[in-house]
Amino acid sequence: MPPSGSPRPRLTFLGTGYLGATHAICMAELGYEVLGCDVDQTKIARLAAGEVPFHEPGLDDLLRRNLSSGRLRFTTDPSETARFGDVHFVCVGTPQRPEGMNADLTYVEKAILGLAPHLDRKALVVGKSTVPVGTASWVEDLVHRHAPADSNVEVAWSPEFLREGFAVEDVIRPDRVVFGVRSEWARAMLYAAYKGVFELAAAEDREVPVVVTDFATAELVKVAANAYLATKISFINAMAEICEAANADVTLLARAIGYDARIGKAFLRAGIGFGGGCLPKDIRAFQARAQELGVGEALRFLHEVDLINQRRRSKVLQLAAELLDRPVGPAGADLSGVSIAVLGATFKPNTDDVRDSPALAITRMLHKAGAQVTVYDPEGTEHARRELPDVTYAKALTEAVTGAELVCVLVAWEEFRHANPHALGELVAGRRVIDGMNSLDPVAWSSAGWSYRAMGRPTVY
Ligand SMILES: NC(=O)c1ccc[n+]([C@@H]2O[C@H](COP(=O)([O-])OP(=O)(O)OC[C@H]3O[C@@H](n4cnc5c(N)ncnc54)[C@H](O)[C@@H]3O)[C@@H](O)[C@H]2O)c1
Repeated sequence: MPPSGSPRPRLTFLGTGYLGATHAICMAELGYEVLGCDVDQTKIARLAAGEVPFHEPGLDDLLRRNLSSGRLRFTTDPSETARFGDVHFVCVGTPQRPEGMNADLTYVEKAILGLAPHLDRKALVVGKSTVPVGTASWVEDLVHRHAPADSNVEVAWSPEFLREGFAVEDVIRPDRVVFGVRSEWARAMLYAAYKGVFELAAAEDREVPVVVTDFATAELVKVAANAYLATKISFINAMAEICEAANADVTLLARAIGYDARIGKAFLRAGIGFGGGCLPKDIRAFQARAQELGVGEALRFLHEVDLINQRRRSKVLQLAAELLDRPVGPAGADLSGVSIAVLGATFKPNTDDVRDSPALAITRMLHKAGAQVTVYDPEGTEHARRELPDVTYAKALTEAVTGAELVCVLVAWEEFRHANPHALGELVAGRRVIDGMNSLDPVAWSSAGWSYRAMGRPTVY
């Protein structure tokens, strides 16, 4: 039985950002009593008022339903959190340190130091944030030093694999869960905390595989998965570079190799590369940690993965200069005075997250090259404006492209994929388009009179 005496463990989530809020809401939906805790008072006030502070499909309804059921609450008070919970999930950010490639663990440390002194009965503290290997043992030590001596609090690590844009589905129906534990009690508590997920799977005639590991393996599973995904994206983007030089088509190449079950077709879309709050910082932190462990050579390829990824961003500038017949000098492309519409600011579709967004980085580069840039994004404008206030933001796709001499489609939002090239052609000043995510139909756009350029694809259709 959970230490609180309730039939199911009571769950808390420290950090109610993209990861923590989604989890808190979904676990309440699965029937748990849940408390979300964050230091950001505005975020907590919005969540408590039934407003998800970011865009994630399907989450708003679940939040409101579970607030009114009484199972879900939010607080900024760590002592209330400690009193309430049996299992405390740590979901705070672990960004890249400004001065290097390592992960910044100060948020993890502060969350533990805020919670631990109030843990006056047995509880399980579970790390969910993505961290360098060795962090769980360090957290265990912090908890033991700062929790009351007789509380017997334990630590576990259960990394999270949700994808923004599909986060609700990924939490409720995960591909697998990983439990990094050091005791039978911790293992049993984690099973109890996930029972709702397992019961739903059983009711749907599915199984959710559970991989039980030690701390270090659990931590490494997450960064290894992200390193693999980043490598797969950079692999196909390296192939795009070759296709560009050889006048071949990387989309057909990807399709053909993707039919091989050993390769698989997922994550083989050539484009402007990966971004977001996870992959870029995770592969850098992984390299930094490997270096500290004396095995930096093992991950040297990730440096190349990062470089390939960065090169794709510059490629868009090169294509823009080519299409607009502008010079490229030692200082880069000169796009002064050109009017460019950028479609997309987020790091991928179906989110408002612009952290390390390739689209926004390219927008910044276009602006620096002298272009007058107007950006339209269906959900990301507010965050993009905060990151990059110097460009113009449009409220609609048609507004953004009106009068543009070049249109850059940089995120594969459905709205852009289905845009009508004939109708848009009537609005622009010049029918030139860069398809940064290879998400448009080149034949349709070319036959509507557009000069079409894409990533790793031939120039003539
Ligand atoms: N976003 C994703 O898709 C995703 C997926 C898997 C793993 N992760 C990992 O999860 C972690 C969180 O990512 P995120 O995208 O949710 O970040 P986020 O920035 O959206 O959220 C982090 C939250 O933690 C809060 N916080 C900071 N210090 C705190 C403290 N002391 N106590 C309580 N709350 C505190 C912040 O105010 C913020 O709301 C990271 O390690 C990330 O790598 C994220």
